[in-house]
Amino acid sequence: MDIVGARNPAGPRQILDPNRRGDEISRFEDALRRKIVGQSAALEAIIELYQTFLAGLHPPNRPIANFLFLGPTGSGKTRVVEAMAEALFHDARALIKVDCGEFQHSHEIAKLIGSPPGYLGHRETHPVLTQEALNQWHTDRMRLSLLLFDEIEKASDSLWQLLLGILDKATLTLGDNRRVDFSQTIIFMTSNLGAAEMNNLIQGGLGFTCPRRAAQSDQEESAPQWEDKLDRVAIDAARRKFSPEFMNRLDRVVVFRALRRQDLDSILDLELNLVQQRILAAAGSAPFLFSCSPSARSRILEQGYDPKYGARHLKRAIERNVVFPLAKLMATGQVKLGDLVRVDADPNSSSMSFVREAEGLLIPVSREIGHEPPVPQMNRAARMPGRRLEFPFSVETK
Ligand SMILES: Nc1ncnc2c1ncn2[C@@H]1O[C@H](COP(=O)(O)OP(=O)(O)O)[C@@H](O)[C@H]1O
Ligand SMILES: [Mg+2]
Repeated sequence: MDIVGARNPAGPRQILDPNRRGDEISRFEDALRRKIVGQSAALEAIIELYQTFLAGLHPPNRPIANFLFLGPTGSGKTRVVEAMAEALFHDARALIKVDCGEFQHSHEIAKLIGSPPGYLGHRETHPVLTQEALNQWHTDRMRLSLLLFDEIEKASDSLWQLLLGILDKATLTLGDNRRVDFSQTIIFMTSNLGAAEMNNLIQGGLGFTCPRRAAQSDQEESAPQWEDKLDRVAIDAARRKFSPEFMNRLDRVVVFRALRRQDLDSILDLELNLVQQRILAAAGSAPFLFSCSPSARSRILEQGYDPKYGARHLKRAIERNVVFPLAKLMATGQVKLGDLVRVDADPNSSSMSFVREAEGLLIPVSREIGHEPPVPQMNRAARMPGRRLEFPFSVETK
């Protein structure tokens, strides 16, 4: 298409605003912010990237973007990519995840790309990185794939070679010579490199206490300078470990921050909310509501957070303290449709106590459109006349 430009000096002159966000981007941003606590640099980077993709301005013959996420373990690096999959495809599994630690030896690389014809097991292997696997979530509107290389500091040399090729040329040749095209793919890589150096810089460590910001103690250093410094120590650590040819292929390096106490509180809310939604959606059972007391929350956080693993064990602590006991109460018919169960830390033991505090808070409401099964709705009508809450809803857990 030829475009001939004509300058119209009389045309209206208007200042344009590149910071304005369209509806689709705003919805995407809201969806991400509902799932991720803090880590605004990562969210900003992803939102900008998605906007460039929607406008079709990503570079040709390369992946849509190559992103490296650095920073402490359990701070949300992997979760951010899953949250993007949920925001775009309504499924946290709508991505291909390569755990680099699992592909150390050459026969394990064959799991990724398949083995050449004639090799033992050639027919049995279904490579992970095929075009079909990559495109499986595509829709007419959204031809975008997410590929995550998790914990790349554990990658073997052969995996590095493979990765470098993808980052540069957006193609990969499988064992049987088929070619895979990554030009509609965003490549995410994560590593906890730099976390130790960041920790050294933040005196007071990654513990529950909010680290004293240098800006507060050192008048000469402002908060942005301090943030830059944290970024720099992590990126320098990555430069020392990774080759220049790798670093040069990255479009963006984002340094995640250690979670603070108030972040963990918010993450706990998110996770407890997910458990509540699981209970409401569980087939064949009587949905009920639960709430955790402050002491129950503290105990879960104590068990689910530690400086070394961040929030990694939070879900496990919730399963152990809340989900498993609630499942037992359900299996033994001790909770009924619409009950409100209060979860408290038992002061005399390491377990939780469970008390029914109210009943009749949910009523089944049939949907008028279609023939879907009845979905329970919260019934506060008796307590608050005229107020009916919609499903799904968030439950106050504080
Ligand atoms: N910033 C965050 N926002 C929301 N959840 C988080 C965040 N950081 C950690 N989590 C929780 O902790 C779990 C482990 O985080 P993950 O993303 O796997 O950490 P890593 O940085 O080591 O990749 C996540 O599945 C999520 O439940
Ligand atoms: Mg991770």
